Amino acid sequence: MPGTAGRLDVLLRAMRAALLVSHGLRHDVIVYLALLGGDPARTLRVRGADVRFLRPDERSLAILVQKCLRLGAGATESAFQEVKPGIAIATGGVDAILADAPEASPFVLDDGGVDVRGADLGAGEDRLFFLGDHLGLAPDVVLRLAAIGAPTLSVGPVRVQADDAVAILSNELDRRTWPRSGPGRG
Ligand SMILES: C[S@@+](CC[C@H](N)C(=O)[O-])C[C@H]1O[C@@H](n2cnc3c(N)ncnc32)[C@H](O)[C@@H]1O
Repeated sequence: MPGTAGRLDVLLRAMRAALLVSHGLRHDVIVYLALLGGDPARTLRVRGADVRFLRPDERSLAILVQKCLRLGAGATESAFQEVKPGIAIATGGVDAILADAPEASPFVLDDGGVDVRGADLGAGEDRLFFLGDHLGLAPDVVLRLAAIGAPTLSVGPVRVQADDAVAILSNELDRRTWPRSGPGRG
């Protein structure tokens, strides 16, 4: 995929890490893929609670995302329009995401931030975690998120791949949700 569709592969791996667990989906996770390189920018929203037939391999995810982008090619709305069950498209990037989740607490992921381990992430409220692709977050995005007071969190001292940052963060959140034995394991 690199070379034919920008670095869609980076986004797909991050989406897989956020949504898929062994033999299932995280039903309480929503992924926004902000595709800022086009004119207009577009954002794809994938809801773990509603999406169907999401397979873990990158090629299947790429085919699905490209199909959805084609279905939503004519979209001119900044509000999300569903193109497949659980998958919707809007024009715009960060502002479309913030407008879609107005109650959620936003955070920026960066290795220079405050250690997520022990950080106050709020209790029982929705959170939005913004992370960059292979190039990192664009400066205007960083400024926009700083303007709304989004704290910056680190998942560790080493700058890792985006999907690894998602996996580490998910693990941290899992540990807070199920501190002892995990869901359904008694
Ligand atoms: C591969 S990194 C970006 C690398 C890019 N070359 C740069 O210098 O910014 C992709 C994204 O993962 C997230 N990330 C990577 N390591 C992290 C860490 N240790 N803590 C928090 N977020 C991290 C950041 O959001 C980063 O923008």
